[in-house]
Amino acid sequence: MSAQGSAGTAVDLRTDLGRGLVLRNPIVAASGCCGYGTELTPFYSPEVLGAIVGKTITRAPREGNPSPRMAETPAGMLNSIGLQNPGIERYLERLLPDMQALGEVPVVANVAGEDAADFAALTERVGEVPGVAAVELNISCPNVSHGLDFARVPERTTEVVRACRERTDKPLWAKLSPNVADLRPIAEAAQAGGADAITVSNTLLGMAVDWRARRPKLARGFGGLSGPAIRPVVLLHARRCVEAVDIPVLGCGGVRTAEDALEYLCVGCKAVQVGTAGFQDPLRLPTIVERLGRLLAELGCSRLADYVGSYRAP
Ligand SMILES: Cc1cc2nc3c(=O)[nH]c(=O)nc-3n(C[C@H](O)[C@H](O)[C@H](O)COP(=O)(O)O)c2cc1C
Repeated sequence: MSAQGSAGTAVDLRTDLGRGLVLRNPIVAASGCCGYGTELTPFYSPEVLGAIVGKTITRAPREGNPSPRMAETPAGMLNSIGLQNPGIERYLERLLPDMQALGEVPVVANVAGEDAADFAALTERVGEVPGVAAVELNISCPNVSHGLDFARVPERTTEVVRACRERTDKPLWAKLSPNVADLRPIAEAAQAGGADAITVSNTLLGMAVDWRARRPKLARGFGGLSGPAIRPVVLLHARRCVEAVDIPVLGCGGVRTAEDALEYLCVGCKAVQVGTAGFQDPLRLPTIVERLGRLLAELGCSRLADYVGSYRAP
């Protein structure tokens, strides 16, 4: 898609994420923040987005963690949903067909397994569906007991990604965790396993306390922090990953505006996922797409691709 800039210039917002997947623009709805896409249709046509990532699917249905499982924090929110989802069978039967009916927008299936074999089996099942444009591996969920096991250890990251790679020819994205001091070895491990792209990142671990009741605000005691509060942390991880790997990096963390998205694109991310901001304002994502084109036109860029990675390092 091209966006009309303020100077009347059409900006080519297309972005190439590898293995033949070219998005019409770089703004992607992040997993867990737009259900399975049908939640967006009362507000706008999802076709204006670059892609939509569905909520994580597991083999068996999951009820998720006990409530309360959301808490507001300054400039962000904590969640410990715990991968509530109806399971792969219902997803394939009902939810995925609904997603495909959304129109001309690439649909990304996000899956989480208990181990490498489980991840691979799920990847194969969703990868076989013709309308699935890519598979995102959630190897970094902080809200399930085994969640961070994979994304904190390079060898386990490679093992999971490789097992999935062997079972699909679809584009494969590995979603990484920011809860490590240095994400580069994990990004390299995902690339070594055959990932076509990496998503940087999932939520940051955090907690909040009701000091009167002397109890945690989340029933599980802790959860994942998202929203503007995490953007500087994730941006640094993303920049370092861009330098460390050859595959595309999708930035994900705290984007609320087109200006925020441009920070990620400037440091070399080829696309940007937006999650929490859509809860605050359901029209936020299309607004970002529209303004992104205008800001690039103001900078004199006729193609997003010319701007991506144009960051001038100190
Ligand atoms: C309520 C909620 C549910 C989420 N569920 C998932 C999920 O099921 N799978 C996943 O990979 N990420 C999930 N995430 C993480 C987001 O996709 C995203 O990585 C994170 O929130 C950071 O981006 P943001 O600051 O734009 O929200 C969830 C986030 C929130 C806030």
